[in-house]
This record gives sequence, structure tokens and C-alpha cells, in this order.
Amino acid sequence: MADAPIDLNSQNIFDIMHTMRAMRRLKPDPVPDELVLKILHAATRAPTGGNNQPWHFVVVKDMEMKKKVQVWYKKALDEVIGPRYATSAPPPGSDAEKYHRQHLAVEYLTDHFHEAPVWIVCCLKGGDSLPSRMAGASIYPAVQNILLASRALGLGANLTTRHLIFAEETEKALEIPKGWLTYAIIPIGWPMGNFGPVGRGELKDFVSLDRIGQKWDVLG
Ligand SMILES: Cc1cc2nc3c(=O)[nH]c(=O)nc-3n(C[C@H](O)[C@H](O)[C@H](O)COP(=O)(O)O)c2cc1C
Repeated sequence: MADAPIDLNSQNIFDIMHTMRAMRRLKPDPVPDELVLKILHAATRAPTGGNNQPWHFVVVKDMEMKKKVQVWYKKALDEVIGPRYATSAPPPGSDAEKYHRQHLAVEYLTDHFHEAPVWIVCCLKGGDSLPSRMAGASIYPAVQNILLASRALGLGANLTTRHLIFAEETEKALEIPKGWLTYAIIPIGWPMGNFGPVGRGELKDFVSLDRIGQKWDVLG
């Protein structure tokens, strides 16, 4: 099934989803609070289990706080994530050149993480920190709404979780009180580059009918 044509200036939800790339090169110029509020409003329209809304969104603008977290974010790239990039194959829908450019953008964001004018730190109340398929399920719909709303407003944003490699240190730097856990840091700012279509694999590689591996003929 071929991708539908994309209109980069459209406010249509499908065009927005298809062009909501990870925007990692952001200008340090301020983002008006009214736009941040609009994004937060979109975030808090997302679903949570039982509609309990056990979330909190911290708008971080404090440069000293962001710098403290950036040190750990960079350490996680240098020591854990970077070496993986060097040896892993390009993901579906990408190629060696695009993957290299992705890596350069990841390095750029890492070095300039604190310069993004606004971070939204997405938190959930309580819970244990044991790995669970349910962990995060009440915050990631809101995270996606933040990304979609940012894109709709022409702002660049990107879901990041790498700070969790040093969760204790970064949550201390963010002064997260006991009883709360962070799940994502979303740096937001005006993009340096352009929005464009996301690169993904083909539908038929990810979809089956009734049971995994069973072909669905409508996919061709
Ligand atoms: C669970 C999760 C964690 C992520 N963590 C990071 C991160 O710490 N740093 C980063 O630069 N990008 C992070 N990303 C962004 C992904 O790398 C990005 O969405 C993916 O490469 C697709 O990018 P594209 O939409 O531009 O094609 C994360 C994405 C997800 C879904």
C-alpha cells in the first residue's frame, strides 16, 4: 500500500502524523508561554487508565537545572547508547546514510540539550520501578499529544528517555519529589530544519490478520 501524498502545511491529523519527525536541532529562541499552554492542554486531553490522570508535567526553563541533566544525558550517550549506534543496522525504512544523519542529529541534541528553550518533563505518580508492560501506558498517550501539538504549531520536539539510564541522578537534578517518576523529557523549540515525511517500514511487515505471521491480502 503506497503512502498517501503529504502536505507539509496542512493541519490535517494524518499529514501531521506523517511529518512528525524527531526534531533534534532546535533554536534557543524562546517559545511563547501561550503555545506551551496549548501543548499542555493537548497533553492533558490524553487517556489514562481509569481516567485517573496520575500525571504531572514540569515545564523546565531553568538553565542551571537543564545543564545538570545534560551532563548525565551526554554520559549516557558516550557510555551506553553511542557504541550501540556504531554497530547496529539502519532501522526499517531507513538506510546507512539516513541512519548516519540520525546519529549526527542525536549527537547534536545531546550537546545542545540544555539549550532547548523549554523542556516538558512527563511524570507519573508513585508505582514501583519494576519493569512492567503497563508502566508508562498512562503517560505515553500524553507524550504523543505533546509531540503532535508541537508539530501542529510548527514547533520542533522529540521524545527522549535516555536520562533514565541515570534516573537517580537526573531526577535528583530535576528535584523530582519522592513518590513521582519521570518517563520522558521532551525538549521543545523552533526547528532549525524543515519538517518532512517520517521514514518507516512497510505496513505488510508489521501487520497480520488474526495471528502473527498470517498474511492479510488487503496489504498486497
Ligand atoms: C521510547 C523512545 C525513547 C526515545 N529516546 C530518545 C532519546 O533519549 N534521545 C533521542 O534523541 N531520541 C529519542 N527517541 C526518538 C527516536 O529515536 C525517534 O523517534 C526515532 O528515531 C524516529 O525518528 P523519526 O520520527 O524522525 O523518524 C526516543 C523515541 C522513543 C519512542
